[in-house]
Amino acid sequence: MEFRDLKNQYLKNKTAIDSAIQNVLLSSHFIGGEPVSQLEEKLADYVGVKHCITCANGTDALQLALMAWEIGEGDAVFVPDFTFFSTGEVVPWVQATPVFVDVDKDTFNLSPESLEEAIQNVIREGKLVPKVVIAVDLFGQPADYPEIRKITQKYNLLLLEDGAQGFGGRIGEKKACSFGDISTTSFFPAKPLGCYGDGGAVFTDNDEWAELIRSYKVHGKGMDKYDNVRIGLNSRLDTLQAAVLLAKFDCFVNEEIDAVNSVAKKYSECLVNFVDVPIIKEGFLSSWAQYTIKVKDKENRDKIQIFFNENGIPSMVYYSKPLHFQKAFKESTNQYVSLNNTVELCNKVLSLPMHPYMQKAEVYKIIKAIKNYYV
Ligand SMILES: Cc1ncc(COP(=O)(O)O)c(C=O)c1O
Repeated sequence: MEFRDLKNQYLKNKTAIDSAIQNVLLSSHFIGGEPVSQLEEKLADYVGVKHCITCANGTDALQLALMAWEIGEGDAVFVPDFTFFSTGEVVPWVQATPVFVDVDKDTFNLSPESLEEAIQNVIREGKLVPKVVIAVDLFGQPADYPEIRKITQKYNLLLLEDGAQGFGGRIGEKKACSFGDISTTSFFPAKPLGCYGDGGAVFTDNDEWAELIRSYKVHGKGMDKYDNVRIGLNSRLDTLQAAVLLAKFDCFVNEEIDAVNSVAKKYSECLVNFVDVPIIKEGFLSSWAQYTIKVKDKENRDKIQIFFNENGIPSMVYYSKPLHFQKAFKESTNQYVSLNNTVELCNKVLSLPMHPYMQKAEVYKIIKAIKNYYV
């Protein structure tokens, strides 16, 4: 059994993917070109924003947003404590200070209450200037943007949506990667829409930021890449990856999002009396980058993982350590609010196999294993 079955996905889309790759090989254009611009148009159209700018990975995408906003020394950037390292990593990279915020225990996403408390505490202390809130669409569910937006408006802050895990999700009809002033995603292979290497994208309606990001991602180019008007990065999505994403896109939109949602429905129906199943807010749709349950405590989780291993069931712990415990952040920030929910989640969460190609028998095997563990 696979935790995320990329091989079956490839086999289902083999003809389209093989021919897309072949066309790039025959064209001998490996950087930029038609597949990259076609993909950017398609993704912007799907998400419902004016600009999609592809780049080398989801971490660079976040960094490019902070660079376009000129975030730097003395600025506070609010980051959920419960997320992948990248979300926080980009902040010291631009010399700004990450301020970690607690998450909601049910949705795993940024807690609006904790966010407002953190902003007020930073203002009260007077050392940092609050500038940006990064909200993460963790495990596929969009963050609580209706509430978070009220707070960013109240305190005049920029909102950056880290949609690395959330591409394909929605609130009502509004798609993930359209909620931030700038939004980003990752095409890392195991993400909801993944390529065959590293890849990422930035989304925005703002023409000026889009132009700046197009410059920053190609060595701060001016008229062309040999005219350099600012210090930038080399952060391009290569042509082969764009071609693979184009070949996978229709299946992702038309089949895979529904498929992961029916796996999640089955898991939740059958597991709700045994473990805490993930809670999706009313009107929200998850793209299920992960299906994550909560168990009683770390000891139980370790035992379940051992039991799973004995039964040939893969599982993962996302995440075992809050960002504020990471050594890398030790020098770069203080704690402004209680982060107890994150600490608790790190001891309780367990992600089960989740992908669009799960067989019914696999889903039932996992459900049965959990039931057997508890009886
Ligand atoms: C929440 C989150 N943000 C950012 C990233 C970074 O994406 P990438 O690996 O493409 O740099 C990831 C990837 O794992 C992620 O899960």
